[in-house]
Amino acid sequence: MMEAVILHGGQGTRLRPLTHTGPKQLIRVAGKPVSQWVLEQVVEAGITDVVLVLGDNNPTRVVEYYGDGSKFGARIRYVYQGKARGLADAVYRVRKLVSDQFLVYLGDNVVPYDLRRLFPLRGAASILLARVPNPGRFGVVVVRDGKVVRLVEKPKEPVSDLALVGVYGFTSEVFEVVQSLRPSWRGELEITDAIQGLVDRGREVEFQVVDGWWKDTGTPEDVLEANSFLLDRHATRSVLGEVRNSTVEGRVVVEQGAVVENSTIRGPSFVGRGTTVRNSFVGPFTSIGEDCVVEGSEVEHSVILDQVTLRGVSLMDSLVGTRAVVERGAKRQRLVIGENSRVWM
Ligand code: G1P
Repeated sequence: MMEAVILHGGQGTRLRPLTHTGPKQLIRVAGKPVSQWVLEQVVEAGITDVVLVLGDNNPTRVVEYYGDGSKFGARIRYVYQGKARGLADAVYRVRKLVSDQFLVYLGDNVVPYDLRRLFPLRGAASILLARVPNPGRFGVVVVRDGKVVRLVEKPKEPVSDLALVGVYGFTSEVFEVVQSLRPSWRGELEITDAIQGLVDRGREVEFQVVDGWWKDTGTPEDVLEANSFLLDRHATRSVLGEVRNSTVEGRVVVEQGAVVENSTIRGPSFVGRGTTVRNSFVGPFTSIGEDCVVEGSEVEHSVILDQVTLRGVSLMDSLVGTRAVVERGAKRQRLVIGENSRVWM
């Protein structure tokens, strides 16, 4: 029996204001929270015993959404990490809940990969790596003669372009190493340093380089990219809502209770339940959440969260947060803009 640990911490600063009301892992892309894509991937790999580690940004939202996990074919237990003390600290907190080998998956990452291939571990840990153009944003790994020899979190010097993707296999030995870790310059116990600790003990760290698409959804651009990728890969045509006098082309999901009137929806796209789309053009690569009103608008390549109103606007590459209202006014615009919002006009 093996467990999957899905981390839900972090402040999501680069995604504000969307993360003022909840953790970034619950931001819905292609119709589902990012971490639900993770959970489904984990369950598909046959791991149904799941631990969610919660941070201090509205953790109850996560519990309300996932419950005991039965809706998702999993058994979910929760651990509160509270204030962010780093990924290694988050992992340490599950020590009493996991077996000798377990999976750790950052809940804001999307890594299309067959997780079964990580196990069983031969060494003390198994990591996934990807070549990136911006290694300074990640933890990176130096590989020499086919072996992991050094790991650096957010390197200032270009030591390697092989980044740690947010998926790890660990044995319980990692808990011993975390106990002796010191906080990094950003004041956190780094998972990258914990793996370095295993290397320092002379333990083998297995690795595989993934060559396909993957994403850490830390910024609005990342969220849009993840939305496009997941729609492209998973959307199948399913029109359950009411469609009147409209064209619905290709792989489009219109959920039950949604209404599409005098409009064109081009796939791959997603329209959530309770949403009304009228006199509008939506898609491709667009997800519209639940209970939205989209009227007289064009929306392309965008993510619109729940209870949003769009009237008379033309949006592209946009990310619109829950309960936002975007309307075209008269000549002069009247705006109420929240902290850290971005507006292009
Ligand atoms: C974290 C890890 C980093 C890893 C990255 C992958 O970074 O610390 O080693 O490469 O996730 O998404 P963070 O998102 O905390 O900046």
